[in-house]
Amino acid sequence: MNHPKLIQGGMGIGVSWWQLPRVVSMLKQLGVVSGAHADIVFVRILQLGDPGGHLRRALEHFPAQDVAERIIATYYNEGGLLAHKAFKNPPRYTLAFDQRLAELTVAANFCLVWLAKEGHDGVVGINLLETIQLPQLASIYGAMMAGVDYILMGAGIPTQISGVLDKFVNHEPAQYKVHVLGADRKDSYYVSFDPQSIWTPTTTLTRPYFFPIISSASLAKMLIRSGQIDGLVCEGSPAGGHNAPPRGQLKLTEDGQPIYGDRDKLDFEQMRQTGIPFWLAGSYATPAGMRKALEVGAQGIQAGSIFALCDESRFLPEIKAVARQLASVDGLRIFTDPQASPKGFPFKKAILAGTLTDSEKYAQRRRVCDLGRLRGPCIRSDGTLGYRCSAENVDSFVAKGGSVEDTINCICLCNALLANVGLAQRRKGGELELPFITFGDDYSWLKVLSPDGANYTARQAVDYLLSG
Ligand SMILES: Cc1cc2nc3c(=O)[nH]c(=O)nc-3n(C[C@H](O)[C@H](O)[C@H](O)COP(=O)(O)O)c2cc1C
Repeated sequence: MNHPKLIQGGMGIGVSWWQLPRVVSMLKQLGVVSGAHADIVFVRILQLGDPGGHLRRALEHFPAQDVAERIIATYYNEGGLLAHKAFKNPPRYTLAFDQRLAELTVAANFCLVWLAKEGHDGVVGINLLETIQLPQLASIYGAMMAGVDYILMGAGIPTQISGVLDKFVNHEPAQYKVHVLGADRKDSYYVSFDPQSIWTPTTTLTRPYFFPIISSASLAKMLIRSGQIDGLVCEGSPAGGHNAPPRGQLKLTEDGQPIYGDRDKLDFEQMRQTGIPFWLAGSYATPAGMRKALEVGAQGIQAGSIFALCDESRFLPEIKAVARQLASVDGLRIFTDPQASPKGFPFKKAILAGTLTDSEKYAQRRRVCDLGRLRGPCIRSDGTLGYRCSAENVDSFVAKGGSVEDTINCICLCNALLANVGLAQRRKGGELELPFITFGDDYSWLKVLSPDGANYTARQAVDYLLSG
């Protein structure tokens, strides 16, 4: 297989929705949709009246029309959402199978991939996070129903995916082992999904290529032992989004950022020895970065930030404009925050006024966990199963066995990242949830693509990255 040289990295929540990946794929590179919280983005766009009719057009092609009709009846508002109204949320995921939620997750991921693939023969991937385990099976199956070509997964060690793909090709039921905080080692917990709960399939599905996203050659070797791996994205700490923590004991700079050392550098020789094609990510988004990647034996690069600021990304246009302006005068400050993500991984944030990086605004926000996608199942002190997120109300987090320390400076990424893409929840009293922008360390490409902070397209970004 001749895989593309350039991967446009999946960017959640909804930043790489379907428009951006579609353009990249039409240019014969790998466009990647973000499957993280895809069902929530999906129902919010439906509630806004589905501008352009794209989601309803995709739903018309969903093989289970009874499911499509139920979703439209539950979430679609023909006239859009009234100005003072809050979005209706889907139920929160738990370990128990929920038929309606599974239907919604399958359909949302189907539509996202279907739209990214519409009208051309380029390849499309989906990005999912290992750490968001509860919707995993339904998301993968929905994407496969639409013929997704690649599955890319990081934020954890995705050892179970290869086995799941084997099952879903033949529409067999699958289970996914779930990490439960505080559980006894001898106890195992699973989520399950049976494709027959959605429809009665007649033909087999195509197995997508599976590309784990990793930070070291030792992880690569471990994953290769776990099943069929078709490629690897090696992502370093300068990348946007979640970063792998540094190896060894966590040490911080004076201003509180994790210190990465020699042990965190990727060993290219060991990567070549795996015999698996690999791509480099994290500050490689220049023609020189592409050349370097090819020189060390990689197939190419994965780039994120350069696409996050282009016209086709779903980041709010005003956020993109401010970030480009600041970056064009070297004034965009990026901070690797060890506390921001409820998932405990370092998270790269852009310091921007009017977002949750403003400590006063952070302190003013009422802590509420109404989407719950980053909640982890946990065993409570009375031995019952619960769900907790370090960004939720502190008392309730502690009552479920969490420690106050873990809640400090933690951001409700579910709500904040939805605000980034124009889908902020409205709270009682009328105020909107605030954005929180993630971005990689390097934006030197902006000097070429947008020296004066002006807008640019995904095509310009692709042409630039392939120009060396
Ligand atoms: C706004 C934004 C959101 C991201 N979200 C995700 C994500 O949901 N899942 C993921 O695996 N990587 C995510 N990433 C990482 C990118 O896919 C990509 O690997 C990374 O940005 C590459 O480094 P670069 O930003 O220096 O190009 C995100 C990056 C950005 C900038």
